[in-house]
Amino acid sequence: MKLKKIIAVAMASTMMLAMTACGNTPAPAADNTTTDTPAADNTAAPAADNTAADATAAAAQDADAAAATVGEGGNIGVCIYKFDDAFMTTYRNALQEILEGKGYTVTVMDGKNDQAEQNNQINNFIAQGVDALIINPVMTSAADQIIATVKDAGVPTVLINREPTAEQMGVYDKLVYVGCDARQSGTMQGELILDTANKGDINGDGKVSYIMIQGDPENIDAQYRTEFSVKALTDAGMEVEELDLQRGDWDRNKGQEIAQNDLAKFGDEIEVVFCNNDDMAIGALQAIQAAGRTVNEDIYLVGVDALDAALNEVANGNMTGTVLNDAQGQAQGAVDAMEALLGGKTYAEGEQSIYVDYVKVTPDNVSNFQ
Ligand code: GAL
Repeated sequence: MKLKKIIAVAMASTMMLAMTACGNTPAPAADNTTTDTPAADNTAAPAADNTAADATAAAAQDADAAAATVGEGGNIGVCIYKFDDAFMTTYRNALQEILEGKGYTVTVMDGKNDQAEQNNQINNFIAQGVDALIINPVMTSAADQIIATVKDAGVPTVLINREPTAEQMGVYDKLVYVGCDARQSGTMQGELILDTANKGDINGDGKVSYIMIQGDPENIDAQYRTEFSVKALTDAGMEVEELDLQRGDWDRNKGQEIAQNDLAKFGDEIEVVFCNNDDMAIGALQAIQAAGRTVNEDIYLVGVDALDAALNEVANGNMTGTVLNDAQGQAQGAVDAMEALLGGKTYAEGEQSIYVDYVKVTPDNVSNFQ
């Protein structure tokens, strides 16, 4: 009963805000956006500004205590697998900005790469009576447990960034996954190499010799990017040789170390450095430059995410290319899905994954992303 009222008021508030936006009023939280890393514990967003409060007050004709609570647009709990991740930092800032802009009260938690810690955070959010959850699981393998927990509590939930299987999600109809299909990004990385003058075979020996710097191998993004980047080459008829595959856990320093060791070990044999993400590619670039190698002349380097630093390096010719992992689009998609759930929409098994496209970034189009 209370929850229903909360949702009704939140929706009325959203509608009023939408109408306000049509009237050319700037978005409520436009200059109120928290772009800094929120503190690990309970970073509550500032309440929506007066526009939101007025809208809600108008909507809640029979305002009572419950309605007053929701006057801020509802309480949303966001769990991020760890704050210390370059791409997820961009993503969570986008998420927070959109939610706050819509007048929600947002609390973002740092899972610190510890599933047990994140489980506690989810339980705490549920105990606090949040209206919806947005969760970036620490471990893909924890999906069953997370889904059982939110289902038990009846909390509408959007999972992001780590996709469970359709079967796992199918047990709860107020659950949606919003993310990208990592096979697409892997394929695009391969295409970036195929688009070079020699299709990655710099020394002309008939095969593309590469090293693969992988993200967290438990993560489906890491698995698919690793597989599909190489598959794009073999599908195009190229022979390939894997000189090394190492886990770099999405981390810049690890990317640098792995590339440094491999460059010392394999030297000029390395023609392509595949990195499952940009942060590791930036690390690898440091090692490549320190070894006196020149990207796009005697070695190729590709990443995924389109972090600002990587876009600069693509523009400067120090990275062969990257793939946009659309944080803004995914954050918007997650909020849209959350609002659909709050509005009462339910999802059948097999229809619970909402995908946002990746985009190839090359020197030719990089300026569109900067
Ligand atoms: C990937 C992204 C990586 C890392 C990872 C975390 O989609 O490309 O940089 O953020 O998610 O799960």
